[in-house]
Amino acid sequence: MITLTTQPRLEAPTATVRASYLTGEQADCLASGFDTGWLGPASEDFDGYVASCQGVQRRWDVPFSTYWYIAGEHYLGTLVIRHELTPALLGDGGHIGYHVSPAWRRQGHATRMLAAGLAEARRLGFAEVLLTCDPANEASRKVIVANGGQLNETLGAELRYWIDLDPARH
Ligand SMILES: CC(C)(COP(=O)(O)OP(=O)(O)OC[C@H]1O[C@@H](n2cnc3c(N)ncnc32)[C@H](O)[C@@H]1OP(=O)(O)O)[C@@H](O)C(=O)NCCC(=O)NCCS
Repeated sequence: MITLTTQPRLEAPTATVRASYLTGEQADCLASGFDTGWLGPASEDFDGYVASCQGVQRRWDVPFSTYWYIAGEHYLGTLVIRHELTPALLGDGGHIGYHVSPAWRRQGHATRMLAAGLAEARRLGFAEVLLTCDPANEASRKVIVANGGQLNETLGAELRYWIDLDPARH
């Protein structure tokens, strides 16, 4: 296990973590059964790829922002904040999604990364955020509950948690 000498931080995507990002994302895709075809073009023009991840992007029919959880040259994971919800995202997806690279899992990084993501969501003006979770995903459920997630209901296959970000209500 690598010992980190700096505290990981949620940052805008940056080319400084090229090697660990590509290694980590390949491992994550393989672990999750996702296509790895996008990694070739991303590695050929990493600066261009990073530029395409910065700022407000659009997917799932909504604007969203991407953050990387980084310590020095180490990329640990990704968190996205969707600025709006659609009926589909209300049921599955919510405002925030994340993953941690397999090599960095089970060390508390997702719990701390979501805490940093909630601080960013508060900074963006959200008073509350929705997170959804597959009932079989015990790790993600624990990450959400550790960050104040209140189980709202189950809609379709997903558990739905709201997290209150309004400091006036605490
Ligand atoms: C879910 C995920 C982000 C968790 O990342 P992580 O960095 O390992 O999480 P943490 O180390 O903060 O662990 C949080 C809790 O889950 C537990 N946990 C972690 N992996 C686990 C596993 N595979 N099975 C059961 N519990 C697990 C930890 O022990 C910890 O429990 P504790 O709070 O009681 O100590 C990571 O497994 C992942 O990226 N999975 C694939 C993508 C995904 O599922 N994303 C979430 C849906 S959007």
